[in-house]
Amino acid sequence: MAPVISFQDVSKVFGSGAGAVRAVDGVTLDIEAGEIFGVIGYSGAGKSTLVRLVNALETVTSGRLLVDGQDVTALGEGRLRRVRAGIGMVFQQFNLLNSRTVAGNVAYPLKVAGWPRERRAARVAELLDYVGIADKAKAYPRQLSGGQKQRVGIARALATSPRILLADEATSALDPDTTQDVLALLRRVNRELGVTVVVITHEMDVIRSIAHRVAVMEAGKVVEHGPVYDVFAAPRERATRRFVATTLKDRPTPEALDRLRHRHPGRIVTVAIRENGAGSGVDVTAALRAHGVDGTIVFGGITELDERPFGSLTLELTGSDAAISALIADLRGRTDVDDLGTAAVAGVRA
Ligand SMILES: Nc1ncnc2c1ncn2[C@@H]1O[C@H](COP(=O)(O)OP(=O)(O)OP(=O)(O)O)[C@@H](O)[C@H]1O
Ligand SMILES: [Mg+2]
Repeated sequence: MAPVISFQDVSKVFGSGAGAVRAVDGVTLDIEAGEIFGVIGYSGAGKSTLVRLVNALETVTSGRLLVDGQDVTALGEGRLRRVRAGIGMVFQQFNLLNSRTVAGNVAYPLKVAGWPRERRAARVAELLDYVGIADKAKAYPRQLSGGQKQRVGIARALATSPRILLADEATSALDPDTTQDVLALLRRVNRELGVTVVVITHEMDVIRSIAHRVAVMEAGKVVEHGPVYDVFAAPRERATRRFVATTLKDRPTPEALDRLRHRHPGRIVTVAIRENGAGSGVDVTAALRAHGVDGTIVFGGITELDERPFGSLTLELTGSDAAISALIADLRGRTDVDDLGTAAVAGVRA
């Protein structure tokens, strides 16, 4: 199937000369119809710019960008408007019209699209029911909680039945429970309505909760992308590792490592736990036994990602140097092992 969004060596440069900012830098990426695609990155990475190119709120500086098979970099304003009509967008600050009721906000895009009044009313009722705030139709935005406001934002974005929904930090202003409720709604929109959802976030937990595939952005570039499990269970880039650390806190910080070294004089290693790797804590135990090495678990965290094991264990190894080296080599054949060395000979982080 053809991708619904295809970035082909896309760059976006703001300004020129010495002050030029390469907000998006040579991105090549396909987003498939029907998936939930996550884009994660720190502030300034270029995430918002990337999605704003999709609905042509910003123009591409170089490269090709296909949306629904149409090259938006080559379309005139009339055709662009048609492409935009197939794209809904939700925002961190909700962007609701405060002078209009909830129903008025949701009706707005229908009015712009020229729907007659009676059809508008029926569609608005249907949408408010779908997002679970039918009882708030006559309320004003200031009378709503953040979660309710975002439901209005989602209803408004879905009004004209778009095929693509872009969510830029849609849950960043919400508390953790409300975040999960809104993510559950986005998941329903994806599954029941077949809408392709692109979620922009700086929160690893958002990606973990709903995305099928993810791209990690840093300084305008996509530094890593693929299925969420593959990217986060075996991160290759430092930025990706940092995001994993925020969700799991499974690896000792440098300060925690110093404390561990005071308590544990032996060789300290961190073993990534993942499917098809060392697999589980049990496999690590078996490897220790096979090599005649003793291991004490001193730090760690294991959870599930995509219903598969994900995390790491940090162990203090004691035994002969040769046996420990053989054990590490053995484990490295199956998963990532960071050799943190001993207090006397600090190893190099892999
Ligand atoms: N209209 C603009 N004019 C000039 N520079 C811009 C403009 N929009 C964005 N930038 C710059 O482009 C870079 C990427 O910005 P962008 O908003 O895409 O990042 P982001 O990943 O969405 O960050 P955040 O997580 O803070 O929202 C930043 O350096 C930003 O200052
Ligand atoms: Mg942004």
